[in-house]
Parts: sequence; structure tokens; C-alpha cells
Amino acid sequence: MADSVTIIDNRTGESIEIPIVNGGVDATEWSKLLPGIWFYDPSFSTTAAAASAITELDGEAGILRYRGYPIEQLAEQSTYLEVAYLLIHGELPTPEQYEVWKHDITYHTFIHENVRKRFMEGFHHDAHPMGILVSTLAALSTFYPDAKDIFDEQSRYKQVIRLIAKMPTLAAGAHRHSVGMPFVYPDNSLDFTSNFLSMMWKVAEPRYEADPVLARALDILFILHADHEQNCGTTAMRVAGSAHADPYSCAAAAATALYGPRHGGANEAVIRMLTRIGSMDNVLPFIEDVKAGKGRLQGFGHRVYKNYDPRAKIIKETADKVFEVTGKNPLLDIALKLEEVALSDEYFTSRRLYPNVDFYSGLIYQAMGFPIEMFTVLFAIPRMSGWLAHWIELLDRNERIARPRQLYDGEPVRDYVPMDQRKASA
Ligand code: ACO
Repeated sequence: MADSVTIIDNRTGESIEIPIVNGGVDATEWSKLLPGIWFYDPSFSTTAAAASAITELDGEAGILRYRGYPIEQLAEQSTYLEVAYLLIHGELPTPEQYEVWKHDITYHTFIHENVRKRFMEGFHHDAHPMGILVSTLAALSTFYPDAKDIFDEQSRYKQVIRLIAKMPTLAAGAHRHSVGMPFVYPDNSLDFTSNFLSMMWKVAEPRYEADPVLARALDILFILHADHEQNCGTTAMRVAGSAHADPYSCAAAAATALYGPRHGGANEAVIRMLTRIGSMDNVLPFIEDVKAGKGRLQGFGHRVYKNYDPRAKIIKETADKVFEVTGKNPLLDIALKLEEVALSDEYFTSRRLYPNVDFYSGLIYQAMGFPIEMFTVLFAIPRMSGWLAHWIELLDRNERIARPRQLYDGEPVRDYVPMDQRKASA
């Protein structure tokens, strides 16, 4: 049997055979037979918008791999910074390469004083830290005009280093501003995650010592969130990148998409949902409301995973270790009960709705003391390496500008009516 599809134009009887390559068919072949007839696929549910060698995701089988390495092995044995190197460069670093990478990232964690003083401190005291992050990322492009040299290898590398390195500084700065605490400068003697925790929590002590269990747990969460192929935020990064915008502006576009409650904002929505449910007695009525269409079970369901999200499994194990240090998050029992009820309910099983990465991550963040508003920011810190890996890939592959077609379904042509002759439409 041929590994191909045949498309017949029933108007003319003409047909075209298109080979199936890598699980897809080339849409340009289709337009040879049917010029001017477009695939209608809003939300890209059945469109592969890119070929990519970064992350392999099989939602049916519950598989997630970065550059071929299973997420379970990376979460157990690697560190976020090593994973960031892997995503950007395509291979795990040698000891020498890793030392250079660590050094470069560590020495680019500082931000320009004007970014802090004029931009970050200029926000209203109750500004959402994700709003601060999105805007500050965009503003950074004006501080690094060399970032526009996107085809200059050295300039590109410098921006990649800067963006990965400055994310924790911007994230912690956004938090400190929102709680009225003084900004804490990066400490070059600390590793990536401990440095972030120091900038978050340091008060008057000469040196902030992060709890190693919590620092490692956060590093694992960073590994799990580093990339997830063509999700909404990464697609925003690639679309802006395809116009050859500088990487700071592209990253601001990606972070904007991540901000939404259907995407990176879901972990925040999970905690708000669990808090609203409040007690075990309210779990069943809540599930009934969801089934009746009164809102969604946050942290459940995924466009691609129709099986247990492999990241959710690892996060659940990480949660146990964190709770041994912090004490159990009182919302955990409600979450466990919700999961148990949903996974045995036909509404959820028939739609193949399983817990996603956000269902348990918020519980860990909350137990660690992060305010709810910081949850999406915590997602954005490591996702920067994934965004940049995709940005580099699309430039290296010289992809054309993203410019989809539309099916116009508005008014047909009509004549302009002078204002004094118009009637209000219903
Ligand atoms: N609770 C209840 N029902 C749901 C849920 C949910 N969380 N998710 C999907 N459904 C139902 C829909 O109502 C729909 O039912 P129907 O066929 O009877 O109309 C069916 O399942 C399919 O849902 P879609 O909306 O078509 O699925 P889609 O792929 O568009 O949405 C999404 C995926 C946005 C993740 C969705 O499952 C959702 O809103 N989940 C809650 C928010 C969330 O957890 N987001 C985080 C995603 S992971 C991430 O971005 C990191």
C-alpha cells in the first residue's frame, strides 16, 4: 500500500497523489491541484506549522523528549541550565562546554539600572508581575540595538545568553516591586535556581541560603517547562520571529501568549479553583457544575495530550518531596480528590481529559511561598530557552514569513453611504 494520499477535485475529476512524509503531507502540493482553495483550520488543530528537531511529543502515548532525550531522564539526572544548552545547541554539553555556558549565563544576570529604576519601578504597585515581565522584555530590545543583527552568529549568541540569564532577575524584580521590597542584585556565586530564590526572598541576611530540596524541586520544574514544541506561546515566538523581529520583541510576544489562562495562566487558575472549592464536600457538586458546562476543571485537558501528561506525573512525585520540607499544601487533598473523581467519570474519560502540567505545579509553588500572581512568571523563566531554540531554528532554516490565508465571510461589496443617510443597524 502506498504511503500517500490522493486528492480528487470532484469538479474536474483531476487528482494529485501526495506522499506522507514524517506523518504529514506537503500543503504546497495540494495548492498545485487546487490553487485558491485553502485548508480551513483555525487554531491550527490539524496543521503542522513547522518542521522541528527540538522537542518530540506524542500525546497519544504520553511521550515528551527534548532533542531525543526522555523528559523523565532529564528531570532525574540533568539541571535546567544543561537542558537549556541542549535545547539551544542540540547536544548535551561536554564538561568544558558546560563550564563556559554556566559562566556566560552567570555573568549576564544583571540588568541595566534604567530597566529596573525607570521601567520596573514605574509600574503601579499592584501591577501583575507577568504584565511587568512582558513589557520589560519588550523594553529590553531598546537597550540592545545589536539584537537586530539576527544573522550575526556572535550577536545572536549574546542575546540568547542575555535573555536566559536575565529572566530570573526580571521575574524576581517584578515580584519585589509588587510587594514593595527592595530589589536584590544577582549573586554570581550561586547556581541559576538558587540565585533566583535569593533574589526572590533575601531580606537582611548577608547571603541567602536556599533549601537544597526546594532549589532542586524548582530546577526540576524548570526542566519540565523548558519546551513543549508548537504551543501557543512558541507559535507566537515563531510568527514574530518569521518577520525577523529582534529576539526581545519576539520573546515579549511569546510571553504575552503564555500570560493567558488557557495557557501558562492555568496554574494560577487551578489554585483559585481549589480555593473556591474550599472543602472535600464541595468536590462532587463542583464536578457536576463542570459537566453541566458551568466552567472548566482547570489543569485538566490538553490540545495534544490525550493521555496522562508525563510532566504531571513527575510533578506529583516532586510535590511529595517539597511537602516534606514545607508541610502539606492544604489544597492538595482537594486536588487529589478532584483527580480521582474526574478520572473515574465518563464525562472526562470519554473526552480524554487528564491532569496537565499545571494541575499540581501551582500547589508546589504555593507551598514554596510564591504568590499566585508569580506562577506564570515561573513558567516563563525556563520557557525562554525553548522559545529561543525555536527562534534560532526558524532562522537557520530560513523559513518564510508566517502569513496564513483566511476564508472571507463578511459583507459582499457595497457602496459607501453618506453619514446623514445612515440608519443604525440592529
Ligand atoms: N474541563 C471540562 N471540560 C473540558 C476541559 C476541562 N478542563 N477541557 C476540555 N473540556 C471539554 C470541552 O468542553 C469539550 O467538550 P465538548 O466536546 O462536549 O464540547 C471537549 O472537552 C474538548 O475541548 P476543547 O475546548 O475542544 O479542547 P481544546 O484542545 O480546544 O482545549 C485546553 C485545550 C484549552 C487546554 C482545555 O482543555 C482547557 O481549557 N483546559 C483547562 C485550562 C488548562 O488547564 N490549560 C492548561 C493547558 S497546558 C498548558 O498550556 C501549559
